[in-house]
Amino acid sequence: MLKNFTLILLIVLFILTSQLIAQAIPVEGKKMLISAPSPYAVEAGKKIIKKGGNVVDVATVVGLTLAVTNPYFAAFGGGGFAMVKVGNNPVDVLDFRETAPLKTHPQYYLDKKPEASQNGGTAVAVPGVAAGIYELHKKYGKLSWKELFSEPIQLAEDGFNVSGEWTARTEISVSRFNPKGAQHFLKNQKAYQAGELLKQKPLSSFLKMYKRQGPKAFYTGPVANDIVKTVKDTGGDLSLQDLNDYKVRWLKPLTHNFKGYVVYLMPPPSSGGVVLKTALSLIDQLKLENLESMSVDELHLMGEILNRSFRGRALLGDPDFHENPLEKLLSKNYIGDMAKSINLTKAKQLKPLSDKNLNESNETTHYSILDDQGNSVSITVTLNGNYGSAVVSEKFGIALNNEMDDFTTHPGEANMYGLVQGKGNYVQARKRPLSSMSPTLVEKDGKVILSLGAPGGPTIISGVLQVIYNSLVRNMDIDRAIQSPRVHHQFLPNVLYIDEWRLQPATKKGLLTKGHVLEEKAFIGRVNAVRLKNNGALEAAFDSRGEGAVGGY
Ligand code: GLY
Repeated sequence: MLKNFTLILLIVLFILTSQLIAQAIPVEGKKMLISAPSPYAVEAGKKIIKKGGNVVDVATVVGLTLAVTNPYFAAFGGGGFAMVKVGNNPVDVLDFRETAPLKTHPQYYLDKKPEASQNGGTAVAVPGVAAGIYELHKKYGKLSWKELFSEPIQLAEDGFNVSGEWTARTEISVSRFNPKGAQHFLKNQKAYQAGELLKQKPLSSFLKMYKRQGPKAFYTGPVANDIVKTVKDTGGDLSLQDLNDYKVRWLKPLTHNFKGYVVYLMPPPSSGGVVLKTALSLIDQLKLENLESMSVDELHLMGEILNRSFRGRALLGDPDFHENPLEKLLSKNYIGDMAKSINLTKAKQLKPLSDKNLNESNETTHYSILDDQGNSVSITVTLNGNYGSAVVSEKFGIALNNEMDDFTTHPGEANMYGLVQGKGNYVQARKRPLSSMSPTLVEKDGKVILSLGAPGGPTIISGVLQVIYNSLVRNMDIDRAIQSPRVHHQFLPNVLYIDEWRLQPATKKGLLTKGHVLEEKAFIGRVNAVRLKNNGALEAAFDSRGEGAVGGY
């Protein structure tokens, strides 16, 4: 009898556990869902939903938690963009991207080592995350600022178990870290191994100050002094004045009407919106929906559309410093010419609009939160490279970006990815470098129904485009829309990048026959997204191309 009871209990436990596992990716909900790169961040967010927090409160705790658990792309030493829709307010855009220090100028890197914009203090731009998280919450949060800190402080103080990705990303940075900063992430000179407990007491003491004082705790006082000293000791020119003067700015999104939806896109200093708007127009003009989904023809045209859409990107820069030719790039004539230049049977390359092109690295991340009322936050943050410049502030353990490499550092010469950047993106004091980050919202009948974004440098744009397309045109559920194979083309080099391992040999052969030069890529964007379905239910998924988590209620 007892044996039977134990057996039944075991079966019930097995069923319950396997359901939990089955629900891990993706999830459905009725109230609010989160898609983010870390389960710790999602769990912290869920607690804030339970407390009655709105999407911005949840985004705040997710951002604070990621700064603890995923410092290689979400530390306070980085910057980012947020797109937000709360209540009856129009969709708003917060730009908390890093700015160039006062001492930098267009020739700053010319007499320095080639990697000066990538490694060490000379690579560090003025970080924006601490100001960004605070400003977003101040304008749109519902719970008090101080209510949002208990989980992140506890994770920093008592520790969290590092993930496989944490270990991999830290291991490859060991030789780049400044020795005094490295102590915050290493044990016996080695990265913590997956599953080991990492405590960050100095970071928790910063979080406590930040909770009390807001961004002052980062841009003035002991933390600012620590950052300035560390950057100076590693060869850079960031000053206390640079930190004191840092300001976020609110921008208006670009919009695009697409098949009955309104798509809200990132304006400059992101190139994302301009490229995506061009690509969505070309999808319409070339009637991609008439082709078979995932066929050679469809992937070929998607590649050609991206190629043409990226062509104008080298003309863009920070709008406070550079006049962006948006009227020309988004005009009916220009986009019509691009459509006419695309041929279904053969890949074709056009002449560059300038002899410059650009690229950024993959070490960025994204999180999206959407509720059943269509309130949403879509945030992309980055340090640029893995752990950014690999300069970590000595006392507080804050990893600092190498966002300076997103500028045109050597006019006319290639950057770390073999590409050359445009004039509008020259280094200038206080200027923000051009970005590809594309937090995006899609609205139907006045309600946000899709919130998404991705890391991946220029591949962000291709990832976001194809998830929007799969979701809105091909009616795929959000998980399938994300996991489906994608392509990427960024105009220069003239290569069609294809998802590693996700395309059939016959499809690759078909693309080669059309004249494409193919290269496989480990990830073409790594999308996090939440969607509100027609039946009112929410669904969230993260990309199987990397670590992630989804959850909510
Ligand atoms: N640093 C990557 C980007 O801003 O696109």
